[in-house]
Amino acid sequence: MSLVFHILTLFPGMFESPFRWGILAKAIQEGKIRVETHDLREYGVGPHRATDDYPYGGGEGMVMKPDPLVAAIEEIRARGAKGPVILLTPQGEVFHQQMAKELASLSDLTLVCGRYEGVDERVRQGWVDQEVSIGDYILTGGELAAMVIVDAVARLVPGVLGNEDSALKDSFEGGLLKYPQYTRPAVFRGMRVPEVLLSGDHGAIARWRRRQALKRTLERRPDLLSKAELDSEDLRFLERLRSEAEG
Ligand code: ADE
Repeated sequence: MSLVFHILTLFPGMFESPFRWGILAKAIQEGKIRVETHDLREYGVGPHRATDDYPYGGGEGMVMKPDPLVAAIEEIRARGAKGPVILLTPQGEVFHQQMAKELASLSDLTLVCGRYEGVDERVRQGWVDQEVSIGDYILTGGELAAMVIVDAVARLVPGVLGNEDSALKDSFEGGLLKYPQYTRPAVFRGMRVPEVLLSGDHGAIARWRRRQALKRTLERRPDLLSKAELDSEDLRFLERLRSEAEG
């Protein structure tokens, strides 16, 4: 299993550092993922290699020209990349963990980083399979969004995380936020680690963690509960928390 990310950008230099550290650096070294940047300037038009132009109809800012984007996408395709072309834009579907999981099973992923006031609409119509936003705020371009997606997707590629089940215990896995974590010392500035975690009773620890995850999700992200995988014991516990909060 390996996944190649093809990134189309006017600023390939932005991608030099983020993947040189930690888990992703190791995954690249071991050939489990590859991150290839393609400089859109190289596909620019005319002596100045233009990649943007004024908007038809007038108005603010510049628009990314279709020709360099399509030339780059077609070259990547011609070299054998099969996966979808994703445009990073605040107008796209908001990125989430389930999307990351689906993308992690692919062999290639092409990420197009928009800049300025956006890309010519015809590129979206003819060459883009999916539009993705990383949240309801406006970045100066799609580059940081592409990095977020590479990071979230790469760690789910089989074999990238050392401990296979650490992805299974992530926040959002099963639809809940993660339980609180502690490490040594057992007492820090007078604050004790919850006794149950020192008990060695694995059943009790698992129950405590499950309940903490439920409590946290109810307090911070109640919107997640309607889609979470919950059993009857979870539902009873949530009911108790809710009635305690009311009482
Ligand atoms: N480009 C600008 N803002 C963005 C966002 N929030 N998500 C993805 N791409 C973007």
